[in-house]
Amino acid sequence: MKIKEAEFVISAVKGEQYPEDNFPEVALVGRSNVGKSSLINKLCNRRHLARTSSTPGKTQTLNFYRINQAAYIVDLPGYGYASVSKTQRASWGSMMEHYLKKRPQLRGVIQLIDIRHPPSKDDIAMREWLNHFKIGAAVIATKADKINRGQYPKHVKQIRQDLGIPKEIPIIVFSAETGHGKEDVLDLLDYFWNG
Ligand code: GTP
Ligand code: MG
Repeated sequence: MKIKEAEFVISAVKGEQYPEDNFPEVALVGRSNVGKSSLINKLCNRRHLARTSSTPGKTQTLNFYRINQAAYIVDLPGYGYASVSKTQRASWGSMMEHYLKKRPQLRGVIQLIDIRHPPSKDDIAMREWLNHFKIGAAVIATKADKINRGQYPKHVKQIRQDLGIPKEIPIIVFSAETGHGKEDVLDLLDYFWNG
């Protein structure tokens, strides 16, 4: 699959703000700073389509990106970022829950995990939450340029174990810096969107 056109459509907090054109959607979940917004930019070959930052907590709302006028990638706000108030955490929770549980257009979820470290408590809690609601989610290990290639299998194995990902489900190793794994991510999106 090729991304020929990508446009930012809306930054939503409530259900009534979600796009209404009924295209299939894939959502990205993951810790703050794991590289969700950077992945969107790399896939779309656009440096500033999704806003990124070295400070965690950049994306605070649900951001809908329309791809090839036919499908959406939804960038969700990251979790596990320490300096948020209880109120912010609660509004994050209800925003995520409302979207992930009640969106008929949602065809797939991708959980992003930093390849350098074993999944955090929050990553595991997120996985358990997705499992509980029977939301199958693929996994992308991000920031692959930060470790040596020879280390990939060991780190992927750790992620697989800690999150309990069955052997049949591939974990894609990706770098927004080098584009490593980009084709695999595009194939995964195509599979979710178009079956
Ligand atoms: P929130 O919006 O806070 O949830 O974060 P996010 O998951 O959208 O992360 P974002 O894409 O903003 O990236 C966070 C930081 O990591 C930025 O400084 C990026 O440049 C950097 N980064 C993201 N992906 C990669 C990668 O593949 N390699 C390297 N070296 N840095 C990356
Ligand atoms: Mg972001």
